[in-house]
Amino acid sequence: MESNKSPPEIQFDKNGSPFLRLPAPHNHIILTPPRPTDGPAMIEMHNDPAIYMTLFSPPFPFTQRSFDDFYPIMSGTTQKAWEEYQEGKAVEGREKWVSAGLPVTCIRVAKGEPTGEEKMLGDFTIKKRRYVSIKDLEARAERKGENDGWPAGDPRIEWELGFYLSPTLHGQGIMPAVVRTMTEAFFIPFMNTHRISGGFFIHNLASRRVFEKNGYVFTGAFPNVFEMHESKAGIKGKMIDLGIMEWTRPE
Ligand SMILES: CC(C)(COP(=O)(O)OP(=O)(O)OC[C@H]1O[C@@H](n2cnc3c(N)ncnc32)[C@H](O)[C@@H]1OP(=O)(O)O)[C@@H](O)C(=O)NCCC(=O)NCCS
Repeated sequence: MESNKSPPEIQFDKNGSPFLRLPAPHNHIILTPPRPTDGPAMIEMHNDPAIYMTLFSPPFPFTQRSFDDFYPIMSGTTQKAWEEYQEGKAVEGREKWVSAGLPVTCIRVAKGEPTGEEKMLGDFTIKKRRYVSIKDLEARAERKGENDGWPAGDPRIEWELGFYLSPTLHGQGIMPAVVRTMTEAFFIPFMNTHRISGGFFIHNLASRRVFEKNGYVFTGAFPNVFEMHESKAGIKGKMIDLGIMEWTRPE
């Protein structure tokens, strides 16, 4: 997955806010921190079945209240990651690694210089793995506790990706490019990630393809992991199988 070209670096817009631009041919796409003005765009995306039927956690219907609940969590993570990134950059030989996640997670289109007003058109996150495929809750908590306990930058940490994109941008190879770019520009150099996984509803082949295009391999199908919320499925008891894709950093 690693290429010979140097990966893009985080830059600053005219308001001093960080952003990362994907390389060509996707250089109209930038990632930024979330903004308090992202409510209408998130509400639009999360009330679209092309998105809400693929995600377990976000509530449906997704309202301004949902955004107000979620925004501090999103921005708290990017803020913490930004602080760790700044600290890490200041240290020679990078002994300090980012462990909170990404400082730029929101996908937007900006053909020219970003203005700070670009509509949010998707989201891309990395977090410590939650092991949702382990059914026994005690065993799951124990595994998660062990993983959460490794120090920042420890190659044993297992990570997990999450993403969605506005249907207006589907099918253009954007999310595979986001995964590839973030791996080269951030996960490896600033987080020292060695093991990343991604879970997907087993019928969601578009999601599986994003992982496959980045060298992830399918490592298992786990039946009946999620019960889809009745508000989304229209019925009670609709169970969903989970597929897991995994990537191990080449030596
Ligand atoms: C999954 C998702 C992120 C893929 O991102 P993307 O940038 O569209 O990815 P790609 O352009 O590489 O397309 C991936 C696959 O989607 C399918 N696809 C292609 N065009 C499509 C279109 N217009 N609409 C929907 N799916 C399309 C194809 O199977 C494609 O694989 P292929 O290139 O091998 O044919 C995007 O479809 C999405 O946000 N879906 C809703 C949320 C979601 O599923 N999130 C993941 C939860 S685990």
